[in-house]
Amino acid sequence: MTSRALLAFFCFTTFLAAQPSRPDVNYDESKVPKYTLPDPLLMSDGTPVKDAKAWTTKRRPEILRLFEVEMFGRSHGKLKDTSYEPLSIDRGALGGKAVRKEVAVLFTGKKDGPRMDILIYLPADAKGPVPLFVGLNFAGNQAVRAEPGIRMSTSWMRDTKDDSVVNHRATEKSRGAAASRWAVEKILARGYGLATIYYGDIDPDYDDGFQNGIHPLFYKAGQTKPGPDEWGSIGAWAWGLSRAMDYFETDKAIDAKRVAVMGHSRLGKTALWAGAQDTRFALVISNDSGCGGAALSRRKFGETVKIINTAFPHWFCDNFNRYNDKEDELPVDQHMLIALMAPRPVYVASAEDDKWADPRGEFLSALHADPVYRLLGTDGLLAKEMPAVNQPVMGTIGYHIRTGKHDVTDFDWEQYLNFADKHLRR
Ligand code: GCU
Repeated sequence: MTSRALLAFFCFTTFLAAQPSRPDVNYDESKVPKYTLPDPLLMSDGTPVKDAKAWTTKRRPEILRLFEVEMFGRSHGKLKDTSYEPLSIDRGALGGKAVRKEVAVLFTGKKDGPRMDILIYLPADAKGPVPLFVGLNFAGNQAVRAEPGIRMSTSWMRDTKDDSVVNHRATEKSRGAAASRWAVEKILARGYGLATIYYGDIDPDYDDGFQNGIHPLFYKAGQTKPGPDEWGSIGAWAWGLSRAMDYFETDKAIDAKRVAVMGHSRLGKTALWAGAQDTRFALVISNDSGCGGAALSRRKFGETVKIINTAFPHWFCDNFNRYNDKEDELPVDQHMLIALMAPRPVYVASAEDDKWADPRGEFLSALHADPVYRLLGTDGLLAKEMPAVNQPVMGTIGYHIRTGKHDVTDFDWEQYLNFADKHLRR
């Protein structure tokens, strides 16, 4: 596709996806169909899961496998030639409050090969390795804060109307464009670091038949695209988060045992999938992740499986198309994705005006993951009903619905910091 055609395609799919008046989109709670969720504590063969051992050794691997084969696609591990290249370090960032550094992960060990750049902020006054939040970003590292020292992304990006991305490359105008979504000063003040990576470094977010991004690095001889049960773009982005974790394990300034993975929207779906597969993530946060993330598919409220597979055919594996308009045939639902984090702390956040992502469906996933958290000896979710707006609940499962739209706000970050303090502080 030419870049113009691509842009037109993108505008069209985003437009289609967000149309509130579409006849195939339900926003009426009374029209949610009756459904029965698969029981996370019942094996596929009907055997009840009675203790932590049966969960860990039998049911959890079974559920993980179902998500792999039917939804996100099977992933690959790390590449043996991957190396890290320090790109910059500023010990006086944020007026002396932070150390800011950039590290390139060279996936094949080659400087001119595929890579992702990690932007890292660490509290300047840290006495030892710090706990850290890691999250992918939508618009390049330079969009996270307006600091001239941050390298300008050179990866493919979707064009914007305001000229912050032109001809699929970020411009100077993009510096700090996403700053309101990254509460860097608050995070540092509470003693945490923040690491972020542009998601398009790992796989550009458009359907090109998986010719760019990391997928081709794993093709077998003669293979030209992932098989029906192999990863799409969400699987690739989650893989990138695990590769960031590999790097954290080598960085003495970071406590890799206390890394929280966080993501918003499609990157919230990605954070959940990364946390499900890679138990090195000590805490997992889904911000407004919606369909294919925290929201229950069977409710068909807002975005549905068919709508997401049509608008974003590259996000999930091809097998997931089988469940278009057939949510009841799914052997899993999204409460089981949440349950895959157990007993690690997981936080699900919704926004009141974000009906497309089905806030109630996100809450119900957290609620129906609770029995697994209880079986594993934690306090699970400390609510039976959806809490009022701006009233977070924080057990080992955390949840809030805040006022406002689909976004990441300081309110969201304040809850994530409180939740991290509760679970990761020493
Ligand atoms: C679209 C898509 C959602 C997704 C969102 C985003 O709205 O339908 O599933 O979460 O984009 O990533 O911003």
